[in-house]
Amino acid sequence: MLCCSLFFWHCQTAPEKGTPAHIKAVTSKIDDAVLANQETEHKDWLTYGRNYKEDRYSKLDQINKTSVEKLGLAWALEMGTKRGIQGTPIVVDGIMFATGPWSVLWAIDARKGEVIWEYDPEVPRSTATKYCCGVVNRGPAIYKGAIIWGTLDGRLVSVDAAMGTKNWEVMTIPENSKYSITGAVRIIKGNAVIGNGGAEFEARGFVTAYDAVTGKKAWRFYTVPGDPTKGFEHPDLAAVAKTWSGEWWKNGGGGGTAWDAITYDPELNTIYVGVGNGTHWDREIRSPGGGDNLYLSSIVALNADDGAYKWHYQTTPGDTWDYTATQPLTMAELAIAGEMRKVIMQAPKNGFFYILDRATGEFLSAKPYTYTSWATEIDENGRPLETEGARYTDGKTHWISPSSHGGHNWHPQSYSRQTGLVYIPSLKMSEGYARIDGREAYEKDAAGGGFGANVSVANKIYNPTVFDGNPNAPLPGTASGRLLAWDPIQQKEVWGIDQIAHYNGGILSTAGGLIFQGDAEGKFSARDALSGEVLWDFDVRSGVNAPPITYLVDGEQYITIPVGWGGGMGQSNKYVDRIHTGTFYTFKLDGKATPPDKLPAMASNFTQLKTNATPANIGEGLNLYLQFCMGCHRSPGKGGGAIPDLTRSSEGIFKNYEEIVLNGMLASQGMPNLGDKITKEELADIQSFVLYTADALSKGMNPKDYATNLAKMQYLADTKGPIRKAIQ
Ligand code: HEC
Repeated sequence: MLCCSLFFWHCQTAPEKGTPAHIKAVTSKIDDAVLANQETEHKDWLTYGRNYKEDRYSKLDQINKTSVEKLGLAWALEMGTKRGIQGTPIVVDGIMFATGPWSVLWAIDARKGEVIWEYDPEVPRSTATKYCCGVVNRGPAIYKGAIIWGTLDGRLVSVDAAMGTKNWEVMTIPENSKYSITGAVRIIKGNAVIGNGGAEFEARGFVTAYDAVTGKKAWRFYTVPGDPTKGFEHPDLAAVAKTWSGEWWKNGGGGGTAWDAITYDPELNTIYVGVGNGTHWDREIRSPGGGDNLYLSSIVALNADDGAYKWHYQTTPGDTWDYTATQPLTMAELAIAGEMRKVIMQAPKNGFFYILDRATGEFLSAKPYTYTSWATEIDENGRPLETEGARYTDGKTHWISPSSHGGHNWHPQSYSRQTGLVYIPSLKMSEGYARIDGREAYEKDAAGGGFGANVSVANKIYNPTVFDGNPNAPLPGTASGRLLAWDPIQQKEVWGIDQIAHYNGGILSTAGGLIFQGDAEGKFSARDALSGEVLWDFDVRSGVNAPPITYLVDGEQYITIPVGWGGGMGQSNKYVDRIHTGTFYTFKLDGKATPPDKLPAMASNFTQLKTNATPANIGEGLNLYLQFCMGCHRSPGKGGGAIPDLTRSSEGIFKNYEEIVLNGMLASQGMPNLGDKITKEELADIQSFVLYTADALSKGMNPKDYATNLAKMQYLADTKGPIRKAIQ
């Protein structure tokens, strides 16, 4: 070989691919300079968003509009998991590092589709009630021969990339707290930077940087102020505290967890953090008396050396709807009004697409990318014009759009440098928000669903309701997705494709003129980036959460899509007739591998068991279901997702309710032991509600009658029942 004669010293020592020596050699070269280079280097996939701009755009174009018809399966690797896979894998010289459910990490040989090693950080399966939205993880980072990622229970772990053995591990959250980590680690200037989630429980958000080699803490930035009498951890918090009122530090901690987006601009030496919602959702309870409540729902810019505050922009001042701004942040250079600007772009939950100057934080523009009813527009100062009733202060249930799922959630968008468009997996959905009187009432009456109780979704079906009369408004209880091609300069949709499910996978765009996305219906598609036309697709058996990646191995372009149904919505819904085990699918031109068998549809009929409980007991069962089960099992009768629909269980399961719910029989599978929270009698009421629902739905009762009946029974339980009073 030519290379041997020219570089014989290299050839002689080059270890065989996939061996520890090879992995060590290629991963130990990954340092700050290599990571910063990924805007121009396109062989590997080394960071969460492909490069520091997180545009998820690849210059690789072997697979293009013409050749894509020859795209075929290179390999499919079944992981044997049954919960959501949301991670973006890292690939270096054909070696892939990817995370799965329960924060398990795998090293995979991307040429063959074989697991090289697996590392399970052993997150206790019994802790599932602490995690609102599935036992997911969005991905690892790589640095100097180590793979670093966060675990659900709040640890940051570093393992040797070649051996899969632990280097170090640090606890990033307070012991016995309800914080969690699902977000991807970012490597910034030699530090591993990680946030956390948990604002639905009780949390004060922060982002921490740890030395990526030693694990030693470098700095921490708090996203909301603590108790002012104790002094502030960093000086900006003094001014920020003035935007809060009451005793928020006692009242749940304020929230503001940064559970997803963290980006870095090496040129400006700046880190950008997307901050989440408040604890409690309702500002009146969180911060009685009002205020903007900084830095909730904000993009905050920090000095990359020490995490010191630089600037912030708040997308939703005084958030009261769970409109997080932790959605993906993407950077680009755009000509705005004839001037090249370094911008940062975001489609946060609140439904408006924002462009900011990332050097100064100046607000440049914002326009709605989905249906919004809480605000009509963002004015020239960057503040929303809110609509009347949007803050649901009158005790009635108000249907408002977007919902707490957002107009867009964590599913990564992509900015194609070729088309100049941002591809956004958006969604359309409204939610019934209601003020619940007093913080204590939330413990019982908010739809905490087995998690925390800091949300503002009234559980009371009979509560007086204000509907959104706009014909464009999504109807209560309906939701859909829309894949959008968005022109960020004109701030308008160029094309859009409606999708049945509201959550679909993230996007990859390439110089082949293509975009790739997996959807909830189990299709992985390549589309023409300019028109949205499907040019190729593949049946991946289960719905997709994760974004695809692309890379070269031995000069050949590969595309990988991790498939594993679950996560916030997939726990309880599905759009295929059977969920398959988590599987990594990898494609290349002329790939000829055989996919795993498609299993037959799962028989899932409503149980035929009946209940003879009184209406008040069924109403009470509904209350308890909403309080303790809803968060995971969601609306009964819908067929279930990664977590079963309780109306379709077998008779054996119904006989074993006490063992399962009160004694932890399925705790190792993520079904929590609720024995210390509910009594046998209460569990019997829950079962009656489940059986009533199964009976009503199997008889084909129309949804309106079903809801009216439930409202009546719930009212009966609340006014006559022994447990608690109705909200008036
Ligand atoms: C933190 C999430 C979570 C909460 C909260 C939760 N469950 Fe579960 N549940 C699960 C998971 C996950 C499974 C599936 C376990 C498995 O794979 O075997 C499950 C399974 C079950 C099953 C077995 C169903 C079947 O057909 O196999 C029953 C019954 C059940 N749960 C009842 C309840 C009840 C009743 C409540 C509320 C009082 C509740 N669960 C609350 C997560 C949860």
